[in-house]
Amino acid sequence: MPHRQRYLFVCTNRRPEGHPKGSCAEKGSEAVVARLKEALARLGVAKDVARACSASCLDLCEVGASIAVEPEHVVYGHVTEADVDAIAEAAARGEIVERLVVAGLDEHRRRREG
Ligand code: FES
Repeated sequence: MPHRQRYLFVCTNRRPEGHPKGSCAEKGSEAVVARLKEALARLGVAKDVARACSASCLDLCEVGASIAVEPEHVVYGHVTEADVDAIAEAAARGEIVERLVVAGLDEHRRRREG
């Protein structure tokens, strides 16, 4: 049973067009998760280091497209396909992309500094 070191939960929730909350799928997250899976595979880390998973609504709609990163326990927001390679490369190294973090960065730094 392959248990990865980290998981990238990409919200692919889609709401009806015109819904006031919008949705991550409307902002391109389905393409983001597909490209993220490809990038992790290309880096050779998809089977043991990092897995990208489609998720339902993370209740972070206002910053979508959103990705919850575990175990780092940070949230990436406003993610586009242009960010995919940086996200995959950071995940492969066991790092995060600080410029994309919209929640959890201070706590992450505190935990890392121990
Ligand atoms: S629709 Fe993606 S976080 Fe809610």
